[in-house]
Amino acid sequence: EEAHAAENERTFIAIKPDRIAEIISRFERKGFKLVAIKIMVPSKEFAQKHYHDLKDRPFFNGLCGFLSSGPVIAMGFIKYGRKLIGATDPQRSEPGTIRGDLAVVVGRNIIHGSDGPETAKDEINLWFKPQELVNYRSNAEKWIY
Ligand code: TYD
Repeated sequence: EEAHAAENERTFIAIKPDRIAEIISRFERKGFKLVAIKIMVPSKEFAQKHYHDLKDRPFFNGLCGFLSSGPVIAMGFIKYGRKLIGATDPQRSEPGTIRGDLAVVVGRNIIHGSDGPETAKDEINLWFKPQELVNYRSNAEKWIY
């Protein structure tokens, strides 16, 4: 039961539109199922909502400025995991992780990933309307079960 629940956990991912295919591919290869995707330019107010937990941090304003500075690809996946993303500071991220391989500076990291399944729910609700979420059984699931 617990394993089954974990399989249905969700992750919210936001990336800058560089290396979209490579980043999606890493999640796909690991068995994450894409259930929502869109491109948008978030407003500063929207970015502040997204990062509300960090509002007292000194980098909050710059971080929200960066998120709202251009297009963002927002994605919802089924299956939760942070390992693929790597540590917050790209200099400390292991090689093989997305930040370890593709990012350089902490305030300009190219990917956001929800920090837990609960946060993922909130973030998917912030970024997507219910009708924008599409669940389905992937071919892999059909073969396995
Ligand atoms: P945080 O939620 O702590 O990290 P993560 O993205 O790994 O969950 O921080 C959110 C973002 O804020 C982080 O991706 C980059 C930025 N940030 C800084 O610019 N400076 C910092 O010292 C920290 C901790 C984060």
